Amino acid sequence: MKPVLAITRRLPADIETRAHESYDVRLNENDNPLTREEILALAQDADAILVSVGDPIDRDFFQALPTKIKIIATFSVGTDHIDLAAAAQKGVIIGNTPGVLTDATADIAWLLILGAARRAGEGEAEIRTASWRGWRPTHMIGTQVTGKKLGIIGMGRIGQAVAKRARGFDMEVHYFNRTRLPADQENGATYHDSINALLPHCQFLSLHCPSTAETRGMVNTTLLQKLPKGAILINTARGDVVNDTDLITALKSGHLAAAGLDVFAGEPNIAPAYRNLPNTFLLPHLGSATAETRTAMGTRALDNIDACMAGADVPFRVTA
Ligand code: DGY
Repeated sequence: MKPVLAITRRLPADIETRAHESYDVRLNENDNPLTREEILALAQDADAILVSVGDPIDRDFFQALPTKIKIIATFSVGTDHIDLAAAAQKGVIIGNTPGVLTDATADIAWLLILGAARRAGEGEAEIRTASWRGWRPTHMIGTQVTGKKLGIIGMGRIGQAVAKRARGFDMEVHYFNRTRLPADQENGATYHDSINALLPHCQFLSLHCPSTAETRGMVNTTLLQKLPKGAILINTARGDVVNDTDLITALKSGHLAAAGLDVFAGEPNIAPAYRNLPNTFLLPHLGSATAETRTAMGTRALDNIDACMAGADVPFRVTA
């Protein structure tokens, strides 16, 4: 008999095919976001669960979880939707999908950098609404990217990939990371030993840190005020790292020229003010949304579950 696998969201076709080959699958056919109770109902006879970003895998979830479940594999590198301490207490293994989102996410950070700086959202809206009045010297003037200073908070794989692309734009890269990178990984970037020391150097600031108790709400008025006037904020990390009210105030006052955001607190119910601000360039959490990357993520997630079911070490295991 095949083990039972509950899957909370629809997956790329090749990944669903592979799941059906090895498991008796309980699928959320309609792909609606599921509540805690709905996931528990889907997984009532399961041996493993494959969850995704935004699923509420919290302490209450683990309290109600049948003891038969050995592993929860998330189709994501981020694990902020999972209470890792509660998982450990319940003896449930958690797996994630690191290392395969790097290029796709760095590419989307660059789409945001360029889109926010060059007012791509406003420009596209003019074309779509037939309100373009033609070329003129003062039309929709943006911020030059080439040659500017880019600050990066969180110089892991994705931060480094963003920095690598910045070199093609002749940018000066500055970064903060909990530990300084070895010189061969720094590639000429300037290290700052605190975020406060980094901020005055950031004409662009790109966030690449996870959402943790330490980083949640970190980008607030105090931090934003330390950026040079006219700076541009880019977020492809997690929405709740930013205090929305404070960012919206900085965008309205003109202290920030623009923000490029792919992630939001409370997705998909974002702070409504972002929608009406002309100086935001907004995407619906598309960082990893390429066919290649989503297949690689699904492969990692199923590799984690297969290993657990075989009693082997889970290759991409996350601990509290
Ligand atoms: C992740 O894997 O955590 C990403 O946010 C998905 O794009």
